[in-house]
Amino acid sequence: MTIPKTIAVIGAGTMGPGIAATLSRCGSNVRLNDVDGAVLERSKAATELASQVLGRLDAPEAPGGSVSFELDLEKACAGADLVIEAVPEKLALKREIFARFEQAVAADTVLATNTSGIPISDIAAELAHPERVIGMHWSNPPHLIPMIEVVPGEKTSAAVVEQLVATIKAFGFEPVVEKEVPGFVENRILYAILRECVSLVERGVVTQADMDTAVKWGIGYKLAVIGPMRLLDMAGLDIYQSVASYLNRDLCNDAEVASLVTDKTAAGKLGMKSLGGMYDYADQDDVNANRARIVAGLVAVRKTLSAL
Ligand SMILES: NC(=O)c1ccc[n+]([C@@H]2O[C@H](COP(=O)([O-])OP(=O)(O)OC[C@H]3O[C@@H](n4cnc5c(N)ncnc54)[C@H](O)[C@@H]3O)[C@@H](O)[C@H]2O)c1
Repeated sequence: MTIPKTIAVIGAGTMGPGIAATLSRCGSNVRLNDVDGAVLERSKAATELASQVLGRLDAPEAPGGSVSFELDLEKACAGADLVIEAVPEKLALKREIFARFEQAVAADTVLATNTSGIPISDIAAELAHPERVIGMHWSNPPHLIPMIEVVPGEKTSAAVVEQLVATIKAFGFEPVVEKEVPGFVENRILYAILRECVSLVERGVVTQADMDTAVKWGIGYKLAVIGPMRLLDMAGLDIYQSVASYLNRDLCNDAEVASLVTDKTAAGKLGMKSLGGMYDYADQDDVNANRARIVAGLVAVRKTLSAL
């Protein structure tokens, strides 16, 4: 399977630049588009930064790739073999933009959406060719996490699923094919974990710093190597059954978001982007240092795991 030669990535915010850098490194000519000229301008540095990280990873490289920056959506899409949409998570906007894709590309061009959870069938509902619309859910940061959820909608054709799976494998990432469920698989697991973590910190069972240590070393480290289903085999299904039979009913199942979080968001404490959230950050340099440490850790772990 070859990598599509021309790919349009629509939306150059958080996700677009990393996606563009990953695909161009594999030999594609990527056209990165955004409706906002200032964002598009800023995305040049973000794309360059992501390319440098891919270099540090020694990610596979093919000649001939490039990223160009295009303010006009129709021009970005013209002649594209694959379109990847990464605009904000709003159904009306995604519907509007997919209708424009249909006018701008060939009838068989695959139209992928990076939606985090909007049903693909809803995005494709009013299109003439819903069979070529598919979820392609990259994880953030997209150039660093080599797993993509592939989510067909009700009308997506099997051939399009096959084609996207082959494309993802060709650029060295691992596709995970799923049925449409709210939040998709990765976020369902993440949010189940986060709900329990926030609840335990809120109840004062553990400090937030100790929570981070417990999850990083007690769970994350292990799961990065073996995955939950094999972990069951390693632990023994009988052991899981006996612990789960009393523990499951004690786990947090609140439908509402915990006040530990909602109080902070109401006070404008949103995390790194507002220099304070669960932790405080002295200034932007402090945030940048934290981000750099996270990237360095992800690069090191990915390199080690890829070599196994
Ligand atoms: N941020 C994440 O961690 C993450 C992870 C996985 C998936 N996603 C999904 O990816 C998508 C994009 O998320 P993001 O975090 O990059 O959003 P973002 O808000 O950072 O960037 C979206 C960009 O789309 C642009 N845009 C808006 N309307 C447009 C239009 N009509 N044409 C072209 N560009 C337009 C905006 O100007 C903005 O720069 C969302 O569906 C989101 O749910 C995000």
